[in-house]
Amino acid sequence: MGSVNLEMPPMEYETRIGKQEVKLNAVKGQMGSKTRGVSLTWNDLWVTVSTRKSGRKAILQGLTGYARPSELLAVMGPSGCGKSTLLDALAGRLDFSTRQSGDILINGHKQKLSYGTCAYLTQDETLLATLTVKEAVYYSAQLQLPNSMKKSEKIQIAEQTIKEMGLQDAMNTRIGGWGTKGISGGEKRRLSICMEILTRPKLLFLDEPTSGLDSAASYYVMSGISRQKEGRTIIASIHQPSAEVFNLFHSLCLLSSGKIVYFGPASAAIQFFARNGFPCPHLQNPSDHFLKTVNKDFDEDIEQGLDGRKPNTEEVIDLLVNSFKLSKEYHEVQNQVAEICQQGGEILEKRSHANFTTQSLVLTRRSSVNMFRDLGYYWMRFATYVGIALGLGSIYYDLGSNYHSIEERGLMVAFVVSFMTFMTVGGFPSFVEDMKVFQRENLNGHYGCCTFVIGNTLSSIPYVLLISFVPGAIAYLLSGFQNGSGHFIYFALVLFTSMMIVESLMMNVAAIVPNFLMGIVIGAGIQGLQILSGGYFQLPSELPNPIWKYPLYYMSFHKYAYQGMFKNEFEGLKFTDDQFGNNRTMSGEDILRERWQVEMAYSKWVDLAILVGTLILYRLVFLLIIKTNEKVVHARKASTSVLSNRSSQIMAKSLPTSPLHGLTSFDDSPTNNG
Ligand SMILES: Nc1ncnc2c1ncn2[C@@H]1O[C@H](COP(=O)(O)OP(=O)(O)OP(=O)(O)O)[C@@H](O)[C@H]1O
Ligand SMILES: [Mg+2]
Repeated sequence: MGSVNLEMPPMEYETRIGKQEVKLNAVKGQMGSKTRGVSLTWNDLWVTVSTRKSGRKAILQGLTGYARPSELLAVMGPSGCGKSTLLDALAGRLDFSTRQSGDILINGHKQKLSYGTCAYLTQDETLLATLTVKEAVYYSAQLQLPNSMKKSEKIQIAEQTIKEMGLQDAMNTRIGGWGTKGISGGEKRRLSICMEILTRPKLLFLDEPTSGLDSAASYYVMSGISRQKEGRTIIASIHQPSAEVFNLFHSLCLLSSGKIVYFGPASAAIQFFARNGFPCPHLQNPSDHFLKTVNKDFDEDIEQGLDGRKPNTEEVIDLLVNSFKLSKEYHEVQNQVAEICQQGGEILEKRSHANFTTQSLVLTRRSSVNMFRDLGYYWMRFATYVGIALGLGSIYYDLGSNYHSIEERGLMVAFVVSFMTFMTVGGFPSFVEDMKVFQRENLNGHYGCCTFVIGNTLSSIPYVLLISFVPGAIAYLLSGFQNGSGHFIYFALVLFTSMMIVESLMMNVAAIVPNFLMGIVIGAGIQGLQILSGGYFQLPSELPNPIWKYPLYYMSFHKYAYQGMFKNEFEGLKFTDDQFGNNRTMSGEDILRERWQVEMAYSKWVDLAILVGTLILYRLVFLLIIKTNEKVVHARKASTSVLSNRSSQIMAKSLPTSPLHGLTSFDDSPTNNG
């Protein structure tokens, strides 16, 4: 394990960022002294969810606390006590099944946590499995660090951060994921941290940064993070810290069932427990002792009770919660919250990152590399398409131009347009993985929705071109479709556009339903309806007018793909009825009109143009969906920090009062503003 050193990055970087900071710090707090960095306060914070059985369930119950610059606040508690929920609430990331009330203020102001000021490491990893550690961090650095910085400087920062996280030995190892073994779970954790601290954010939320790490690695990572705390505010939820790691915490927030058991200096927690009859046994890790005392999931083994009776854990928790509310530590918390709010501080502003063009190029490159290396993304499909094209070519080999070939040409066009495009649903799991990575990076402000859509679209084009032109050529040549390169190019372009449309459809589904099975079923269902109403499996004149003809027939992209391919295939050809030697002929145009009921008022190029329009529309809808999601999340962020008059009064009151006065001001009932 290499030593972890999260001290300041190289001087040049620090100076550049520093200049920006100085400029951004121009807006000062309204009252009193101005603080640098981010002081976060939360007051009477409630988070509830609705449950089917018992109405609303409170996950967090009236929490009050603060986090200050240059301090590391550890949030501890048994599993399910609300650690992640607290971090989510503070970072404005709660989902919409929850309701939140209370005040969350940044430097005493209601303000949004904008890009570069805040980073959040989630409990679950979402990384691109195909990239190596070095590539993942390099791409991330190029996306996040500003354009004013040279590429070499970005690489230097990336390399240094990799070393700081002790990942230098795994630099060239692929991350790996489902199906492929790559770096270990602990290395993934460190890599995730690495990518979030590249911009040296002022506020860092870390949800279980040490899960999956052994005690030595946990210590190195946490001491690295702790060394980096100068000027930064760090809030980390943590399970089972060793005694050494525990000593790194400045403050401790101990939760149980969503209530505060203790908040204050980590070093004073032992005295608080001892005062209430639960002294930490000699040679026992204090964090083990705290967790054991407040974990009611396995209600046994309380070291020592009151009055000789052994209370159950529920009673112990109630005792500690009530005792804390009456303690000097709690009053100190209230005073600190009020003081921080009165001091105010800088209004945080957005820090610059790479510009739109750079981000689009980097994302396109990263996505191309991922698509190239992920066998399931395109290569498997390519191999399957080649196999199917060979099958099509042998079944419909050398169609000729007799009457019989009319039906066969129709069947082959229908197969290509319906089923070869339908098979694009096979890429859905990869789309879902891409969406997860996008959502994490977008939430952390690495780049916006437009850049993602551009990167994703541009990177997929060469692969979809390949899988439409090569298998397309095999099927086309073997079956003896209409001669001429123009005809083949049209055929392949319709196939290409149709596949891109289905990809876009599946991306839309992935943005709304990020579940493999449900997504594939929904995507397949939508396509099934489009195929049915496309005018091949039932002729347009026979389609029932309500729903199937109006609007589905006109909305189905298959209609334009069938008709464009039919025109491409039949126009200009003559078909002979050679069955009984009568040698009647029929023109391709007549067949189009009478047999396939194709709309002949416009050319095949109009059909292709409509397909391209549909593709653009689907991509715009995709952009709209992810943009709406982003807006909703940001709206949620903005609504988290509402300084109510009630709280202002409480804060104003609690400053000068004696320890026990401020306590009665709090009203325990949640008020919903979320
Ligand atoms: N959206 C939700 N709907 C219903 N219950 C929820 C929701 N979100 C969280 N919970 C419940 O709230 C409690 C706290 O969850 P949270 O994820 O914050 O726990 P945690 O302390 O982070 O646990 P762990 O240490 O296991 O990560 C859990 O009991 C969880 O089941
Ligand atoms: Mg959690």
